Amino acid sequence: MSDAVSDVRGGLEEARAEGLNKIEAAADLAALEEAQIRVLGRKAPLARARSSLKDVGAEDRKALGMLANEVQSSIQDALDRKRETFEAHELEQRWATERVDVTLPGEAPPVGSIHPLTRTIWEIVDVFIGMGYRLYEGPEVELSTYSFDALRTPKEHPSRSPSDTFYIEGKGDAVGLRSHTSPVQIRTLETEEPPVYGVMPGRCYRRDEQDATHLAGFTQLEGLAVDEGITMGDLKGSLLEFARTMFGRDLDVRLRPHFFPFTEPSAEMDVQCFICRGDGCRVCKQEGWIEILGCGMVHPFLLEWVGWDTEKYTGFAFGMGVERVAALAHGVPDIRYFWENDLRMLTQFRGPA
Ligand code: PHE
Repeated sequence: MSDAVSDVRGGLEEARAEGLNKIEAAADLAALEEAQIRVLGRKAPLARARSSLKDVGAEDRKALGMLANEVQSSIQDALDRKRETFEAHELEQRWATERVDVTLPGEAPPVGSIHPLTRTIWEIVDVFIGMGYRLYEGPEVELSTYSFDALRTPKEHPSRSPSDTFYIEGKGDAVGLRSHTSPVQIRTLETEEPPVYGVMPGRCYRRDEQDATHLAGFTQLEGLAVDEGITMGDLKGSLLEFARTMFGRDLDVRLRPHFFPFTEPSAEMDVQCFICRGDGCRVCKQEGWIEILGCGMVHPFLLEWVGWDTEKYTGFAFGMGVERVAALAHGVPDIRYFWENDLRMLTQFRGPA
């Protein structure tokens, strides 16, 4: 064997050993890319050994050429295998770091809840729906004809004064924001045939100084029952049922004589204080009773106004402040809280709709 042949052979085997070592030593993909250049590149030992092939005779060149190819492919194989293990490892790591546990509970988005006043309206309405009443609504911007005239309110009554009622500009005192829900009584009697059993919630407006028990914009709930043979006993029985559902089953109610232009006789209804049950406490201001609504027998004037037979039909009506009822039922000390939209207040009324 000539020297040139053994030099080339030795060079090729060295290139293989060095190449495999470098590949073995590469600790990550980047190092492997670098090793590839150094073992298979143009200046690598393998390339140098190949270029010395021209120094051997043609009879040996074929065998040495095959050896060179075999060294090259063993290096290439080693590179490929190593790259595969790195890539598999990298994928494994990505699986580990980017893992998503789809069984973990999600983060629930904040969900709103029914406003306590709406909830109170629903509760009150439910009591009366259970007694066969229907729900009616009327406009908040109302004709004085419905707010006052049809309700037998005299021209000089203080509630008509512009210092009490908001009037719409340019309409004199003919159109205003309703100061109570009673005009809905008239609208309902006008559009329905007898008998009528209705509850009518809605917003009302008064030029009131706002404080813990007064708001310029507030909510009322009116009730009206007109049928043959309705008596004051029906009024008391129906409102007793309402008061006990709202405030407590074993509480008593009482009627105190009062005056409203549109009912005769008229009364205010008190419910026994559900805190002290009559002994007197801070909630009932030592009275033992809490006023919850105004009521009375529908004045025949109203029935005549809408053309109903006053010999045949009688009825009762009542009206209450929803903020007041809600405040009493939930121990809220100031009705302005219902309109401040403070979540610390409102979230306390969360519950099933
Ligand atoms: N409308 C009266 C008020 O606002 C309440 C009421 C309604 C009284 C129906 C009697 C009958 O004070």
